[in-house]
Amino acid sequence: MSKPSVYVTRLIPQVGIDLLQAECQVEINPHDRPLTHQELLENVQGRDGILCLLTDKIDAEVFDAAQGVKGIANYAVGYDNIDVPEATKRGIPVSNTPGVLTDATAEMAWALLFAVCRRVVESDAVMRSGQWPGWGPLQFIGGDVTGATLGIVGAGRIGTAMGLKSKGFQMKVLYSDAIRNEVLEQQLQAEKVDFDTLLEHSDYVSIHVPLMPETRHLFGKNAFQRMKKTAYLINTSRGPVVNEAELVDALQAGEIAGAALDVYEKEPVMAEGLKDLKNVVITPHTASATISSRGGMARLAATNLLAMLKGAKAPNCLNPEVYKQ
Ligand SMILES: NC(=O)c1ccc[n+]([C@@H]2O[C@H](COP(=O)([O-])OP(=O)(O)OC[C@H]3O[C@@H](n4cnc5c(N)ncnc54)[C@H](O)[C@@H]3O)[C@@H](O)[C@H]2O)c1
Repeated sequence: MSKPSVYVTRLIPQVGIDLLQAECQVEINPHDRPLTHQELLENVQGRDGILCLLTDKIDAEVFDAAQGVKGIANYAVGYDNIDVPEATKRGIPVSNTPGVLTDATAEMAWALLFAVCRRVVESDAVMRSGQWPGWGPLQFIGGDVTGATLGIVGAGRIGTAMGLKSKGFQMKVLYSDAIRNEVLEQQLQAEKVDFDTLLEHSDYVSIHVPLMPETRHLFGKNAFQRMKKTAYLINTSRGPVVNEAELVDALQAGEIAGAALDVYEKEPVMAEGLKDLKNVVITPHTASATISSRGGMARLAATNLLAMLKGAKAPNCLNPEVYKQ
């Protein structure tokens, strides 16, 4: 019997490729860039399985092109790039990679939090420029972390890890989520509050919600006006959760003290003016970029796809209802 044909839309860590190659005929996007939508449509034709990335828009057109596909494995925990309801309608299972990148992403949120409030990037630039005149009592004064209030918007896996890592800084933790988080409440005496209360009382607001219609532009002008003028925003979730143009306005107007972002509304492009602001730290969507996390994502995505190719329920299936159809 011939091996199933799998398409991988970009080179991922070898551990995932090895798992797939042991059982499948594997073709990988040869370019070190995301495929265009047209290239994606051409390459998914006749495949049994697709391993895709958050930069691939997997929509009805792709499902039309990939007639007979047995499964789609996303190399990410977020799956806003995939039209899952459409996949379900067509009986195509879809999976993601939860858990393996939780700590890495929370660690990046902490790295960004410190970088922005202690003005690390701005200070580094001055040192490199040769313009530092020597120690000064008013130079680079930033926000305090110990004893401050951390607001977590979306207390799921990553939001919980973000909260738990605050222990060493004796912070007061607030969170907003539809679901009660007993871990945060029991271990940190965290308080579940509504979104507006969180904005009004937090010194650091860290975003960990998935991108969904309800969370698109959750952060805009109104949210920034509710935040403390001394507060910082940290976003490691998805860019469109924040209205980036309105964030630039808020930062320029001094409505909040600063922002640290790993994700952008229209990646790889940033809103006009964002990169010119000194009170902003910007990283290129690298929150999960650690050795174990990226390797874990590759292993999990491949494992999910192999299960789907065998007609079995993938460990991280997002639409298990397809198996009941
Ligand atoms: N920057 C990166 O590289 C990177 C890496 C990993 C994950 N992420 C993003 O982080 C997101 C969260 O990942 P996770 O594993 O913690 O997911 P999760 O599903 O465990 O947690 C998400 C939480 O958000 C809550 N939520 C949903 N809508 C909400 C709303 N309107 N207000 C408040 N809470 C709401 C959910 O109830 C859930 O508890 C992913 O969807 C992904 O987009 C980004």
